[in-house]
Amino acid sequence: MNILLVGGGGREHALAWKLTQSKRCTKLYCAPGNAGMARLGECVPIKATDVDALVAWASQNGIEYVVVASDDPLALGLVDACQAAGLRAFGPTKAAAEIEWSKIFAKNLMKKYGIPTAAYEVFTDCDAAVAYAAAQAPSPEKPLVIKADGLAVGKGAVIVHSAEAAEDTLRGMMEGERFGGAGKQVVIEEYMTGREVTALCFTDGKTVYPMPASRDHKRALDGDEGLNTGGMGVITPVPDYTPELAERCMREIFRPTVDAMRSEGRPFCGVLYFELMLTADGPKVIEYNARFGDPEAQALLPLLESDLLELVIAIGEGTPVTPVWSDGACACVVLASGGYPGGYRTGLPITGLDALPPDILPFHAGTAFDKDGNLMTNGGRVLALCAVKKTLSEALRHVYAHIDAVRFDGAFYRRDIGKSSGVIV
Ligand SMILES: Nc1ncnc2c1ncn2[C@@H]1O[C@H](COP(=O)(O)OP(=O)(O)O)[C@@H](O)[C@H]1O
Ligand SMILES: [Mg+2]
Repeated sequence: MNILLVGGGGREHALAWKLTQSKRCTKLYCAPGNAGMARLGECVPIKATDVDALVAWASQNGIEYVVVASDDPLALGLVDACQAAGLRAFGPTKAAAEIEWSKIFAKNLMKKYGIPTAAYEVFTDCDAAVAYAAAQAPSPEKPLVIKADGLAVGKGAVIVHSAEAAEDTLRGMMEGERFGGAGKQVVIEEYMTGREVTALCFTDGKTVYPMPASRDHKRALDGDEGLNTGGMGVITPVPDYTPELAERCMREIFRPTVDAMRSEGRPFCGVLYFELMLTADGPKVIEYNARFGDPEAQALLPLLESDLLELVIAIGEGTPVTPVWSDGACACVVLASGGYPGGYRTGLPITGLDALPPDILPFHAGTAFDKDGNLMTNGGRVLALCAVKKTLSEALRHVYAHIDAVRFDGAFYRRDIGKSSGVIV
């Protein structure tokens, strides 16, 4: 089969790596791809958000399967547009992906179907939101969470500790331009405490196939200091996510969500991402994503023993499958550009990748080739180094033993991935 994979981040590189191992993959095209993906397939210079151009190109170039794994094209209805053009595609429809692109939709769904999540109110009027927030008397002991309804590249959730901060945040989101349309409506919700864990599942809209649990590290610096990022490293599986907890999440959260989407006439087919808070009252949903996480995909796909292409085709068709996962562990550590998630330079030469042992997988996120074909930086998160071993300790030790061999000016990474989960390296 000729496959078109839409996107160009680390997640897509990991998907490309796994898809090209399939015996059914004849040729992989990536739009737009990146320097790492260019070694696995042919990059097509079309933006992931250019739905019309992607569908036209796929139709004209004999594409037999389109894989969509990032939020914007899903929210723009790329899967629907492919299907309308007679192309097979993996990923939820626009209506199903609303579970990610509207936090209000997701919260209302959870309320209607009794799926545990933080208590909340929805506001379209800024003054009403400000008055409500003030009445909650947010404080450092009892913060409040304010979220823009729409997609906001991971910056749409703000935790506030005072009524003044709540008002600033609300006015900025609802009246300012920073969030575009995403912040015109907001959710104000109760602050939950507990450990966070990510549970991804494949689902055909009826059956839920859970993947091993994973844990990202969102803050830029060691000890969970610094600003929020797209993710600085992942461990999988998660030591404190016990089989009992997995069973409870399946019963109280995963299956009810998939059933709810079907009841709403929006069956969800694809990868459903459950961001969970393990609270004293049990697991609760922080939010849903309608796709693989980045960098969670880079840590999970190396543990998948099944043929990914066969799996996604079968799930798309609703045929029963049995995804097989390694019982080992995978660690993923992100190498970022100095200054990220603030301003950073690009175009810096990257060296040392060739010296890595073959059991370290370097997935490319922000990389490109310069005009002479040399590898250079091209984004905030540049590479993710991943290793599979029997245990998380061994996997992390292996990545950390080799990560300094990869160099570019200003490169930094967190040295404590897994530490807060009790993994001793
Ligand atoms: N109700 C909540 N209580 C405590 N922390 C929260 C709550 N909602 C969100 N957070 C924190 O904020 C982060 C981002 O929120 P999330 O809803 O996942 O938005 P997004 O990923 O779209 O920015 C979460 O990973 C979590 O750490
Ligand atoms: Mg989130």
